Amino acid sequence: MEINSGFIPKKGRKVRIFQRAADAPALPATPLKFICYFVNQFRWWYLSIIILEALHATSGIMLPYAIGEIIRSVTQSPENSQPVLDAIRQPVILFTALSLGEVVFGRSAGLLLTILHPIHRQQIVRSLYAYLQHHSHRYFSSSFSGALAHRISETSLGVTQTMQMLISEFMSVIIVFIVTTILLYQVYPPLAGFVGLWAVGFVTISFWLATRCRIYSRKAAAARSETTGIIVDAVTNLTSTRLFARLGFERRYLNERLKYELKHVRNSNWYSERIRWFQFISAAILKIGTLYYSLSLWSQGAITAADFVVATSLSLLIISEARNLSRRFLELFEHIGNIANGVGTIIQPHELIDRENAIAHSIHQSSIEFRDVHFHYSEGKQVFQKLSVTIEAGQRVGLVGFSGSGKSTFVNLILRQFDPQSGQILIDGVDISDMTQNALHAQISLIPQDPSLFHRTLMENIRYGKIDATDEEVIKAAKRAHAHDFIAQIREGYNSLVGERGVKLSGGQRQRIAIARVILKDAPILILDEATSSLDSITEKAIQDTLDVVMDGKTVIVVAHRLSTIAHLDRILVFDHGRIVEDGTHKELLAQRGAYYRLWEMQAGGFLPVEANNHNVSELPTR
Ligand SMILES: Nc1ncnc2c1ncn2[C@@H]1O[C@H](COP(=O)(O)OP(=O)(O)O)[C@@H](O)[C@H]1O
Ligand SMILES: [Mg+2]
Repeated sequence: MEINSGFIPKKGRKVRIFQRAADAPALPATPLKFICYFVNQFRWWYLSIIILEALHATSGIMLPYAIGEIIRSVTQSPENSQPVLDAIRQPVILFTALSLGEVVFGRSAGLLLTILHPIHRQQIVRSLYAYLQHHSHRYFSSSFSGALAHRISETSLGVTQTMQMLISEFMSVIIVFIVTTILLYQVYPPLAGFVGLWAVGFVTISFWLATRCRIYSRKAAAARSETTGIIVDAVTNLTSTRLFARLGFERRYLNERLKYELKHVRNSNWYSERIRWFQFISAAILKIGTLYYSLSLWSQGAITAADFVVATSLSLLIISEARNLSRRFLELFEHIGNIANGVGTIIQPHELIDRENAIAHSIHQSSIEFRDVHFHYSEGKQVFQKLSVTIEAGQRVGLVGFSGSGKSTFVNLILRQFDPQSGQILIDGVDISDMTQNALHAQISLIPQDPSLFHRTLMENIRYGKIDATDEEVIKAAKRAHAHDFIAQIREGYNSLVGERGVKLSGGQRQRIAIARVILKDAPILILDEATSSLDSITEKAIQDTLDVVMDGKTVIVVAHRLSTIAHLDRILVFDHGRIVEDGTHKELLAQRGAYYRLWEMQAGGFLPVEANNHNVSELPTR
């Protein structure tokens, strides 16, 4: 569905239509279609497994029939003699064949499933991940990454488990019921009627109990996971607990939670227990009922002794096959619920996709132009209105303004993290929405305020800027970013792992890794969003010199808190509530004695005050 715009006007209303990135897999957005889509990819496998499982179940349930035939042959022969042995040869062969068939077919199906499942699961993981990759910045900022990763694995597992249950459990049960009814029908139709009715009643009630039980077990699961959450939170804050001398308080707090959990877990367990009662009682009814019924039929001479044996052993087999049916229904619901959850979360329309005829434009001039840009994150909270500004190729521009004035948004729009509602952003004269996102991002480097690193080695993290860089190139970049010295001091040097998101490094160290990475990337446009504000001033000074070298020959945008770090740039834009209120060099702006001048004066302390508290820069007092 390569549709360009996410919105098509319909009767004056904006209607969302499902759009998907061109290189994302075409995954269906409903659980049932989703399962079918993936099963279809492995249809020959599943067909073979279904056939083998069907043969397996049939062989198993035919065994009593073979026994019946053996008994019939024996009882119909007058005495122990050669003719008896001849007569029972065929049923004995049948019995042996069925027993072997049960093993061979069952294990063959098992073998295929064992081979298929991991491949199938991985195929689903791959597809879901490939789909997820194309979601927007907005999507990822409003979801937990851990939860998304969990969804991928639960969904993939859900599909394979559902298929396994449907084939090896539910299909077997159905086959067993059908074959039994047919066999008994041949013996004596009312007996088949009794067992058939029992089977229908048993399945229906099991299903109904499972749907009821689901409510309880969900509540219990929710209570359990809430408790886990509370324990995680408490453990994370254990130092605070100790320092506030609240150890006892926390234990009581947990106790309250555990009591609450206990209530729900008990409800759920009681319900499971009731289901077990139902199962045992219905099993007893079937066993005893069949026994008495066929016994009385035999005494009336309606059936033979062989039939009697067949009927009673069939009833025993049915019971062993249909055991725990409610629980299996419950598990099936669980798996399908997981799939529905994952599909609902991940298979959403992609918010920002490449146009059908998007070009992989390579940037030569690297001028950036905002043309009448209107933008808001959410309706009614306009960030930019008709914003127009041009940054010439090779210009180094500083952006200043209070927090919340729109600097990061400005940068995010250039990176196409969001699309403006109207207006254009052009790089090199080309609208960025006409470029492929890959081309755009390959040619812009960003150093954010708080860069996050992969839990991979430092070498790999830096090399991310240029995948084919040699070790020497990586080290050279690290040296230029003033990262080499601290890396050399870590025990494993460039091969050390940095911990999830880079937690084992200080903010400043992470920042220098991010800078080294960008040095390797060597893109024509460089953006720094408060990149040096987490550094101490000595490191910042050292890095500032490097940054000046890195900036050479590039178009650069620097968002800065500390005005001294941008004073020497070619041009400064002062942002205020989404507008550019001043534009010029440091000297010119100081001479204007306007907003920038006042900010500069306020920075006698070195920083901008963090919050503007709704006053405009222009309203700030002059000293
Ligand atoms: N992801 C977001 N979702 C909703 N509103 C946002 C988001 N990011 C920023 N904003 C809002 O947009 C405005 C501009 O923010 P931002 O560009 O981050 O300012 P700055 O970088 O200058 O501090 C602020 O009012 C902020 O609350
Ligand atoms: Mg910001």
